[in-house]
Amino acid sequence: MVGNDAHPVFRELLPTPGGEVDLAAAYAHPVGLDRPWVRANMVSSADGGAIGPSGRSRDLSSPADRRVMGVLRGLCDVVLVGANTARVEDYGPVKDRASWAELRGGRPATPPVAVVSRSLDLPGRLLTDAPGHARTIVFTVASAPAARRAHVARHADLVVVDGASVTPAHIVNALAARGLYRVLTEGGPHLLAEFTAAGLLDELCLALSPRLLGAGAPRIVSGGPGTPGAPGHASVQSTPVRIAHLLTADDTLFARYVR
Ligand SMILES: NC(=O)c1ccc[n+]([C@@H]2O[C@H](COP(=O)([O-])OP(=O)(O)OC[C@H]3O[C@@H](n4cnc5c(N)ncnc54)[C@H](OP(=O)(O)O)[C@@H]3O)[C@@H](O)[C@H]2O)c1
Repeated sequence: MVGNDAHPVFRELLPTPGGEVDLAAAYAHPVGLDRPWVRANMVSSADGGAIGPSGRSRDLSSPADRRVMGVLRGLCDVVLVGANTARVEDYGPVKDRASWAELRGGRPATPPVAVVSRSLDLPGRLLTDAPGHARTIVFTVASAPAARRAHVARHADLVVVDGASVTPAHIVNALAARGLYRVLTEGGPHLLAEFTAAGLLDELCLALSPRLLGAGAPRIVSGGPGTPGAPGHASVQSTPVRIAHLLTADDTLFARYVR
């Protein structure tokens, strides 16, 4: 079958080269999860860049990549992002899709968005337009500006943490306490660095886009401990992952790595 923009066709390359792929089955979570499972979905250029000339990831995106993103959102309990991604990519609440009826499996029609921020400078509609079943969850610190805190608390589920930072462990535990085990983080690179450093990333779904961005583009993991030249480089760790599948569509490769 030949694909088109609306219906890109996915083929499996690994573990078994073959025919058309059922994305929902290919990205199904482990059965019977008894702990939170953190999955990241990121797109990278072939030479490892995560942000294109527009300052956004859309330069790397394709209909196939957006299709995978849709399936992953349909499968998850909560979409987690850093505030800069929410600002730059102008995040709103997740939109309902008719095709999700089966993926949601009795859960509310859409997952909430959870966002992490010290400044509480967040897109307004992410707070005000969320439906009652999926109020936005906002993680922040006690030093966040008081007026913004009050505004966020009126519209969203505000979680205030002591200390200078919200730790990945705190985020995962607070989401699990709300019954939100299947966490889908969509980045950005700084938040992902924190989850990787904390050893709390279970899975990386990586779309490799057929483009080169050169040396100026940040990687999908940026700015945390282990950045070359930054303090903490000596603490770089090598964590083995196994490849659960490799798919292709639209000349893009879709690798699913599991820790
Ligand atoms: N290629 C891809 O797949 C992909 C995916 C996502 C994003 N992107 C791109 O990446 C860029 C944004 O990513 P980014 O790495 O700059 O930022 P980010 O990780 O999305 O967000 C960083 C921000 O999150 C908040 N934050 C992070 N850790 C925190 C902690 N421990 N405690 C409290 N707040 C915390 C802070 O928000 P405040 O500043 O509000 O305090 C911080 O400035 C954009 O250009 C976007 O287009 C690419």
